Amino acid sequence: MNHGFLGYRTSFMLDFVVVALVLIVPALVYSLAAVKRQQYRLHRKLQLLLGVTLLIAVGLFEIDLQWIQGGWMNVVAKREVALTEDQLAFVRRVLRIHLVFAVSTPLLWATTIGLALRHFPSPPQPAPHSSLHKTLGWLSTLDLVLTSVTGLVFYYFAFVAK
Ligand code: HEM
Repeated sequence: MNHGFLGYRTSFMLDFVVVALVLIVPALVYSLAAVKRQQYRLHRKLQLLLGVTLLIAVGLFEIDLQWIQGGWMNVVAKREVALTEDQLAFVRRVLRIHLVFAVSTPLLWATTIGLALRHFPSPPQPAPHSSLHKTLGWLSTLDLVLTSVTGLVFYYFAFVAK
């Protein structure tokens, strides 16, 4: 256990994921702005890059949290100031909500990317697949943002807040 680079008693990898979740938002905004400018090739490249980055970040995160730290309760147990029963109940509730988004996001992303690669021409252009893709694309974006926000809320109340 070290003091991660955010300065709290968590771990380097947990902090890395927190920073990745924050950085992903501007990348996503940039990728959607590329669609507006009709730079579909750039949009495809950025979305594939984001997909791979997310997969690696989440993979490292799970390895660190489950295998190295032995689960989030172990991280919480190392807090300088212990959580009260009420705080622990709140943190569990936030975690349950977070997991709904965290589990559905990779499934939705994989579906959106898989269908887009199969149904858009190359180089990518608007096509009959556009309307389904826009729906899936916005749902994927919303799911990812809710995963990030609820994950950060959990991180803050479980590991940081006094
Ligand atoms: C999970 C990954 C992806 C997400 C979240 C995503 C998201 C989006 C969103 C939200 C839009 C609509 C923007 C608007 O309302 O104007 C869009 C448009 C588009 N995307 Fe993606 N996208 C993803 C992957 C891809 C990939 C891999 C390709 C290419 C193979 C692609 C090609 C396009 C094209 C061509 C459009 C324009 C459709 C049109 O306006 O007719 N996207 N994307």
